[in-house]
Amino acid sequence: MAQAQFPPLTNDLLLRAARGEQTDRAPVWVMRQAGRYLPEFRKIRENHEFFEVCRTPDLATEITMQPIRRYAGLLDAAIIFSDILVVPQAMGMEVIMNPGPHFPNPLNTPEDMEKLPREVDVEKELGYVFEALTLTRKTLAGQVPLIGFSGAPWTLMMYMIEGGGSQTRQKSKTWLFKYPEASKQLLERITDVCVRYLIGQVNAGAQLLQIFDSNAGDLSPYDFSKFALPYLKRIADEGSRGFEGATTPCHPRDVARLTDGIIDGRTITMQGNLDPVVLYGGKEAIEREVKRMCKAFQDARGGACKAWIANLGHGITPGVDPEDMKFFLECVHKYSAVS
Ligand code: CP3
Repeated sequence: MAQAQFPPLTNDLLLRAARGEQTDRAPVWVMRQAGRYLPEFRKIRENHEFFEVCRTPDLATEITMQPIRRYAGLLDAAIIFSDILVVPQAMGMEVIMNPGPHFPNPLNTPEDMEKLPREVDVEKELGYVFEALTLTRKTLAGQVPLIGFSGAPWTLMMYMIEGGGSQTRQKSKTWLFKYPEASKQLLERITDVCVRYLIGQVNAGAQLLQIFDSNAGDLSPYDFSKFALPYLKRIADEGSRGFEGATTPCHPRDVARLTDGIIDGRTITMQGNLDPVVLYGGKEAIEREVKRMCKAFQDARGGACKAWIANLGHGITPGVDPEDMKFFLECVHKYSAVS
């Protein structure tokens, strides 16, 4: 599939920071920026089921655009409205949002993997995401870059086995120890779909790919190196191969803190990491904490604003006042700027 033609990008701060370059201020976007804290989002959700929105390109585009319009000039990226659980759906599993994710038939034993189709036609199963990306990229008209995303294999495996969110992750972690070979097969199968899904997203118009490994922190460093990292590496290598301009930041939640962003002597781009709960603390707290975060990142970069994308440490939550989100964005603009 040839890459479509789109209007030129006028704000490329995000892409430059992702490549490790110096920027005048930090680019900022927020996970779940199109979400339940916005009244305009809740209004659409009154009449449409969650996955119906994901599967309807016009609705997914409209919702993706809501925060871009509301916070015009303040947000530096759009992230396509979808969910990481569209991949298990594409692999043949039923998922409903009620109000959190629920799999009526989770994978209980390795035999259950046999029930999933061996071949996944990514274009057929996930073409609606590609359509939504293309439509959104056109609608954005170059204002800000468009982020595509996927869950990481281990995080998706956990949902497919637990059947939903889980505090203990007992079932999915049991698989790793009781059925290590079957676990690796499952992780490979998920990775195969993720790679093709991400390549399809770039072809459809995504300019940066985000991998959410929300359950990375549940694994010991040794198990992370065995059951998570090899598949993330495959995604980074194969998912973005040949697609100049697409980088793949990973969001490995709760893994050991990387404070200076230097690995193997190389500066890596960091993203984050204001505690989302600060947005409930009122303007004084938001300003104070954003100032502190900006200073910490600049100090780590020798006083420059470089290789840093400002974001919350996790998704924005439904109770946040949209005006406080606006103030957060304004504070990032103000305090991350290096004169
Ligand atoms: O960031 C964005 O604005 C893009 C949209 C997006 C959603 N989910 C929409 C959503 C993204 C990037 C995700 C990623 C996602 N989904 C992750 C990885 C990041 C993370 O949260 O750790 C995970 C684990 C999921 C699975 C998922 N989807 C859960 C656990 C839930 C329930 C949690 C909650 O906040 O209620 C969802 C539902 C969901 N996905 C909502 C949104 C806006 C809220 C549900 C609704 O609209 O009713």
